[in-house]
Amino acid sequence: MADSWAQLKQDCGACRRCALCQTRHTLVFGVGNESSPILFVGEGPGEQEDLRGEPFVGPAGQLLDTMLELIDLDRKKVYIANIVKCRPPRNRDPLPEEIAACGEWLGRQIALLQPRIVVCLGRIAAKELIDPDFRITREHGLWLERDGRAYTATYHPSALLRDPGKRPEAFEDLRAIRQRLREENLY
Ligand code: URA
Repeated sequence: MADSWAQLKQDCGACRRCALCQTRHTLVFGVGNESSPILFVGEGPGEQEDLRGEPFVGPAGQLLDTMLELIDLDRKKVYIANIVKCRPPRNRDPLPEEIAACGEWLGRQIALLQPRIVVCLGRIAAKELIDPDFRITREHGLWLERDGRAYTATYHPSALLRDPGKRPEAFEDLRAIRQRLREENLY
């Protein structure tokens, strides 16, 4: 049977495939426009996201909203998801087995959304979706065409909060995304 957002939300919502289900408050599925041509992918829920069930609602999320605004986007125009749907304790990096256990959900989100552009927010998403050897400091802003999609990565908003000196580079990445959206008439 063909997949649907309703089916996927139900299947994912019941997930107990890894140990993160034991410590999560809320599974954070994803949010936004379910027919958007642009998908932003973060790493995994933090404390606020775990409590509220929505991606990027804490301090990093406020910065992501500003980043979206800079390129004339907002949460209603894009889709936002994470590599792992449940919060890793104390915000540690998700473990390889947690990422693997969670892979089906983002895969099905991408299959339903069919985004033209996928923006990886930070190293963890870029390693998973672009290249396992991805180096964010060297390779952010580059583009990879694969299976009809254009993939790129920029710094994670949390990294930009920790190191505001990286913001001009992230701004360049965002301008390139806006340029591509315009060129391909995706606005
Ligand atoms: N960081 C992420 O990678 N994702 C969120 O949803 C929140 C913070």
